[in-house]
Amino acid sequence: MSDIAKIEVGGKTYEFPIVEGTENEHAINISKLRGASGGLITIDPGYKNTGSCISEVTFLDGEKGILRYRGYSIENLAEKADFLEVAYLLIFGELPNEEELNKFHDDIKKNSIVDDDIKKILDAFPKTAHPMGVLSSLTSALTAFNSSSVDVNSEEKMYNSIVKILGKFPVLVAWTMRKKQGLPLDYGDSSLGYVENLLKMMFKKPNEEYQNNPIITDALDKLLILHADHEQNCSTSTVRIVGSSHAGLFASISSGISALWGPLHGGANQAVLEMLAGIQEDGGDTEKYMAKAKDKSDPFRLMGFGHRVYKNFDPRAKIIKVAANEVLEDLGVEDPILDIARALEKEALEDDYFVARKLYPNVDFYSGIIYRAMGIPTEMFTVMFALGRLPGWIAQWREMRLNKEPIGRPRQIYTGKNLRPFVSVEKR
Ligand code: CMC
Repeated sequence: MSDIAKIEVGGKTYEFPIVEGTENEHAINISKLRGASGGLITIDPGYKNTGSCISEVTFLDGEKGILRYRGYSIENLAEKADFLEVAYLLIFGELPNEEELNKFHDDIKKNSIVDDDIKKILDAFPKTAHPMGVLSSLTSALTAFNSSSVDVNSEEKMYNSIVKILGKFPVLVAWTMRKKQGLPLDYGDSSLGYVENLLKMMFKKPNEEYQNNPIITDALDKLLILHADHEQNCSTSTVRIVGSSHAGLFASISSGISALWGPLHGGANQAVLEMLAGIQEDGGDTEKYMAKAKDKSDPFRLMGFGHRVYKNFDPRAKIIKVAANEVLEDLGVEDPILDIARALEKEALEDDYFVARKLYPNVDFYSGIIYRAMGIPTEMFTVMFALGRLPGWIAQWREMRLNKEPIGRPRQIYTGKNLRPFVSVEKR
């Protein structure tokens, strides 16, 4: 491929360099376009053709169904690594050795105490509040309780903010769930692994010893790894753009949680389960819902299907489908919702509408079934996604800060009214 792209406008030709990635991807670097052309910009709603940054964190090939963190395949990491190792890999670029991993975990544990006054904020939320809204607010509130974390002008200060959020976030996740359920709030047990401790904080009953179930711990570890990063998706782009104004890490993560909440993004895992439960209640007629999904006058979409980038299969969905079968079998859970999911998947994969538009099950299609088998309430599913995505958000934020990226500030084409005189209220 040539290393120059030419754009011809109004008889003038402008030349722009082609940028090449390590996986042979190419982009036209138009950063000088506006200055060189006297005001010309590009427009790309939904950023379908726009690269917002150059990144070393995650590689994704949507056509081939490839997902790699820092060069390691998602299949390999899901099988062999644990969530904390993957978090370290994403954030710092290399898998940790034993000493590095132990230090990282110790630093996280040392920073896992959440100011007790945060409970007062939690108390003020109605029990009906959605956990994603609560989590986003509490994460933002962490800034007020840890004001020194906003200043991250050295790698050491950045590290301190990173271990603080990794330590406190699982506590906020557990508190958000327990508050809704009217259960007492606790700080967990720092002798346990990261995921085991999270589960204990979420599920320990006040009148019983907590018993770790390794099947559940391993399955959750795997789910968190599969969600840990996904390059420049909606919430990650949000984290990078908020962070580019030098708002602190916690404020940037809080905005990422809000972006993730929507049903077209992370909120899809809750939407999938509600959809499957709705189909079951309605008699289990999957063909009826397939027809609704294809009917353009009906707003219903098959949740958990389709992806902006994956146009062949979502590699995460493949792993999760197998895991869902295993977990349900290991736990001895028979869930009729799994049969509905299987039927929908089969019908969609054979249906012209879905085949022509390259719509395949995505990461969210089967994850809710596993969360449900673990006893996690449906409204908490997207919170679990947020916990999994936390290392990715941190890694992308850190990269953006270390690269000294400029503040994100897109432009627009204005199509409103031209200048007009003000008319006083009595004459309007
Ligand atoms: N059910 C029915 N039709 C669909 C679906 C669906 N789930 N997804 C896309 N389409 C159709 C859409 O109507 C359009 O048809 P046409 O070309 O006739 O107008 C075509 O497929 C292309 O869709 P699009 O909305 O232009 O595609 P997009 O890349 O902008 O959107 C998406 C991707 C994920 C938002 C979309 O597929 C969707 O809404 N899926 C359901 C929600 C979901 O599962 N989201 C989770 C995504 S994975 C988790 C994450 O990383 O966030």
